[in-house]
Amino acid sequence: MSDDHATYSFSALQTDPAFGEVTANLDAVERHLEGLRTDLLVLPELFASGYSFVDKDELLGLAEPFDGGETTERLRGWSRGTGGMIVAGFPERDGDKVYNSAAVVANGELLDCYRKVHLFGFEYDVYEPGDRPFAVQEHAGLRVGTMICFDWMYPEAARTLVLRGADVIAHPSNLVLPGWCQRTMLVRALENRVYTVTANRYGTEHRPPRPALHFTGSSRIASPRGEAVADAPAVGVTLLQTTADIVLARDKRVPSGNDVLAERRPDFYER
Ligand code: ACM
Repeated sequence: MSDDHATYSFSALQTDPAFGEVTANLDAVERHLEGLRTDLLVLPELFASGYSFVDKDELLGLAEPFDGGETTERLRGWSRGTGGMIVAGFPERDGDKVYNSAAVVANGELLDCYRKVHLFGFEYDVYEPGDRPFAVQEHAGLRVGTMICFDWMYPEAARTLVLRGADVIAHPSNLVLPGWCQRTMLVRALENRVYTVTANRYGTEHRPPRPALHFTGSSRIASPRGEAVADAPAVGVTLLQTTADIVLARDKRVPSGNDVLAERRPDFYER
């Protein structure tokens, strides 16, 4: 954070985890984070476990509790080093239920656990749909809202986070549709006048009988002007970084003078 408390640094790490190799994947991420100081770091969806679970039993074997799991313990340690908030995806076990979740941590503390609301395709076979509201967490004056991957398809997700005060939307992802989300996030950023940080993975997972999945990389940070301010290539470990002006994200006026949030007309919208 700068002296005027208006600028913050945002980062996203794009990776290619090996399925099921949780400790090795965590160790690899830790190496990439060495020396990093940032107000917000976003890691991909399911960044340490891998994505393409063949069935619920396999998922139960790799799912972890939010409090005390290997992944969230490592996130807590990393957040002491980066000095800011970290948002990262993991398979969350709660009794016999598993959620596709994102942990939100800062200062070594667990702040929140978001459970993916809009599951994608086969995910319905193994995960429970998220059962908690879209939420915004504040740390050192920065308000971070979280959604996961396919939530991008529902404008209501980003809009709800912004109505709840988000300056930036942290968006851990494992995207497979060709460029759809990366393009759409420019619009989500513009229509909400908010920053978005999409941390995607790259590479391929083929775990029969599931079809091979090709993840699209191209992680992206978008500004409230609807511009890509940092872009990763389609393939390759990449640490994206940008400086963000939070005053810009809190000004919802467009050049005509219209305040796009204040002038919403919810009476005319479908509930
Ligand atoms: C996705 O929601 N992981 C495509």
